[in-house]
Amino acid sequence: MKITVVGAGNVGATAANILAEKEVASTVVLLDVVKGLAEGKSLDIMQMAPLALFDTRTLGVTDDYSATADSHIVIITSGLARKPGMNREDLLEANAHIVKNVTENIMKYSPNAILIVVSNPLDAMTYVAWKVAGIPSSRVMGMAGLLDTARYRAFLAEELNCSVKDIQAVILGGHGDDMVPLMNYTTLSGVPIRQLLPDEKLNEIILRTRKGGGELVNLMGKSAWYAPGYAAARMAEAIAKNQRRYFPCSAYLEGQYGQNDLYFGVPVKLGKKGIEHILEITLDKDEKALVEISANSVRENIVFLESLKLW
Ligand code: 2OP
Repeated sequence: MKITVVGAGNVGATAANILAEKEVASTVVLLDVVKGLAEGKSLDIMQMAPLALFDTRTLGVTDDYSATADSHIVIITSGLARKPGMNREDLLEANAHIVKNVTENIMKYSPNAILIVVSNPLDAMTYVAWKVAGIPSSRVMGMAGLLDTARYRAFLAEELNCSVKDIQAVILGGHGDDMVPLMNYTTLSGVPIRQLLPDEKLNEIILRTRKGGGELVNLMGKSAWYAPGYAAARMAEAIAKNQRRYFPCSAYLEGQYGQNDLYFGVPVKLGKKGIEHILEITLDKDEKALVEISANSVRENIVFLESLKLW
């Protein structure tokens, strides 16, 4: 199993580190346009191997896509990151060109790869990768929901003073401030969360989750990487090991949830073929309205992308 991570910034390097440490692949290639960056980070991960006891081989390269040849899975993290005051949409045009270029190079050397996109604005960039790659949508997905639910679950576990392991949750929608955490599908070991926390507290946590990425940008002056990098690696692991896990991911919708021709966060089954099933769950009237609002924001980005004539 060979996995490539494009972009050796904080998110990409974290994903490569986790993949290596968990021995998800025999080879992890890290690629970046900045000279020496991927080589350096890959060397650093290699030197951690005797301490963490893993045998994954890591290879860092500067813009040399031939080294990524025959990758089974490729994680794309390239692109400009958010700075304080910016929302994910501010990055739209610049990152669309970057993701297009990366995807073309990747497909040239790994035509059978499964792509996991992490670049922002997430759902729009996943759409770009899918259009440019010209492969079935089951092999192109975006990492967002897993990160957003991780934030939501962490906040809930903190509030309930319980293990994060016992909190289950689903978040639908685009990776933006109008994502839709579903209270009705949030449980503590199967017990509906509404029996344990008042709606007022839950709404506070949902608001914090929706703005979770921005909270970190404001604190650090740049966007997060530990949880985003881990989430991308976790998706790659589910595919590499054919785990058939249900994770919320950005997937191409053709009628599901009443949406067409857009990438959008929904629960999917991840296995060796990529997205093997899109799970449709029943929503109440309010949830449907919120999903529509979120879908409309993603659609606006896609309409703008179409005007760029990138494909
Ligand atoms: C975040 O939400 C990086 O978009 C990512 O932190």
